[in-house]
Amino acid sequence: MAGFAALSAAIPTGILPSAGVAYVHYLSFMVCFGALVLERRLIRPNPNRQDATLMVITDVVYGIAALALLLSGIARVLHFGQGSSFYTENPLFWWKVGTYLAVGSLSLYPTITYILWAIPLRKGELPQVSEALANRLRWILNIELVGFAAIPFLATLMARGVGLAS
Ligand code: HEM
Repeated sequence: MAGFAALSAAIPTGILPSAGVAYVHYLSFMVCFGALVLERRLIRPNPNRQDATLMVITDVVYGIAALALLLSGIARVLHFGQGSSFYTENPLFWWKVGTYLAVGSLSLYPTITYILWAIPLRKGELPQVSEALANRLRWILNIELVGFAAIPFLATLMARGVGLAS
């Protein structure tokens, strides 16, 4: 407790909001990645009730974290970063945003699939998942994971001004 009080006294005023938004950005990234890994592990043809329900819940958590990631990113551009032009003038920033949007659009297919699973699950029935559908979802999740792993690399370069005209 005393250690926590000493830590908060040592943080200069004004730093906390910016550190907090940066923290939300990292935390939501980790939650997104963790959710995708879990979905990737769980996906199989004709899942049992427990796995199918867990997939639906995991996808909801993924959606909330992806939104938090986007909102904290926008907040950093507008208020807590190095000035919005530092980002918007850098093509790497737009590659980062584009990759995020591509991954987000790709995740619509699994999300709609899981929403449709919720209908039989609520009636106490199991969703019908063919081998072909499970394979398609596996590939989509693989691509999303690669996209999510690439974005922090673009972010670290962008944060250091790589890509800006000198
Ligand atoms: C459209 C959505 C996004 C926007 C607008 C955005 C914006 C930003 C901004 C402004 C920074 C601060 C850079 C600085 O310190 O000057 C940042 C850092 C970072 N972002 Fe994002 N971001 C977005 C999505 C993501 C995603 C999807 C990920 C991960 C998959 C991510 C990972 C990171 C990381 C790791 C950093 C820290 C870079 C560093 O300080 O070395 N961002 N982002």
